[in-house]
Amino acid sequence: MSTHTVTLIPGDGIGPEVAEAAVRAVAASGARVEWDTVEAGAGALARTGQVLPDQVLQSVERTRVALKGPVTTPIGGGFASVNVALRKHFELYANFRPVRALPGVQTRFSDLNLDMVIFRENTEDLYAGLEHEVVPGVVESLKIITEKASLRISRFAFGYARREGRKKISVIHKANIMKLSDGLFLRCARTAAAEVPEIRHEELIVDNTCLQLVMRPEIFDVLLLENLYGDIVSDLCAGLVGGLGLVPAANLGDTHAIFEAVHGSAPSIAGQNVANPTALMQSAVLLLRHLNEREAATRLEQAILRVYADGQVRTRDLGGSATTTQFTDAVVAAMG
Ligand code: NAI
Repeated sequence: MSTHTVTLIPGDGIGPEVAEAAVRAVAASGARVEWDTVEAGAGALARTGQVLPDQVLQSVERTRVALKGPVTTPIGGGFASVNVALRKHFELYANFRPVRALPGVQTRFSDLNLDMVIFRENTEDLYAGLEHEVVPGVVESLKIITEKASLRISRFAFGYARREGRKKISVIHKANIMKLSDGLFLRCARTAAAEVPEIRHEELIVDNTCLQLVMRPEIFDVLLLENLYGDIVSDLCAGLVGGLGLVPAANLGDTHAIFEAVHGSAPSIAGQNVANPTALMQSAVLLLRHLNEREAATRLEQAILRVYADGQVRTRDLGGSATTTQFTDAVVAAMG
């Protein structure tokens, strides 16, 4: 069995706690992973003066794959997002977020056994960060949508749907208002849809999508969205299955991949050993599949499912009292 070298970016806030949990879970899965641990984010800034030190880029360049904890991004000023920088630098154009109900997790929608996949364009839109003050009191923020990026994410999503036997893709937009930008995205999605006729394709306006998601989430299968809509709708979807502590994500490009949770650094619960590490553990499952460590991935995935089905060990976000460490112990034990 070969050993894989993977970059580990523990991140800020609850990042180091959930990263430690995921590392323990991967070790117990039987996969041979050697971690190259590097620091990025607010912690790195305080210690090294750089929010995204060159060492991080060099490590990911070398290993081509990373597991990343959340990184704090200051609001309304300060440094630009490390996440956006990493996604742009490595051209991680597809943000893949499977949203699945877990056994025994009670939500308003538990009886529906939800299973959706979100594809979020990851490199442009309002996240291009092109903002300037035109005159005092007037700010312009540019929404960039290109044919290249829109086609690339659309083909990625439709290709995935075909490979995985999915039934339908909902393309989400606001082309009634942003006729040019969202209109272009929509046209690219239609091009990709025409190449995969076996997958049903529908188009939904983003506000109506939010309504449908909370009224009838079971009608959704795969969702394809631009960057900003994808960001917002992902958190909404996480809420449908029990919250941000549960949902994983993968930032995928043609050559590199970074796996992380959907959630952020949750500063209000950082350092208390109460964060739910499931989301990053589930991201580690995606990482193991990416490394072709299928058995280890299934072992870890099944262990997480068993702990939830068993119902004894729950972290605080799900109404339990287990610590991050105790939850991790339970997952590790379930693999034993
Ligand atoms: P957040 O995701 O950190 O927190 C939202 C809510 O969910 C909070 O109540 C938090 O306690 C809870 N939560 C999140 N993850 C949890 C977990 N694993 N277990 C239990 N509860 C959990 O979002 P927020 O507060 O908007 O952002 C905090 C910081 O994180 C900001 O600086 C933001 O920029 C950054 N962020 C980073 C991301 C990344 O690195 N990929 C993604 C999203 C936000």
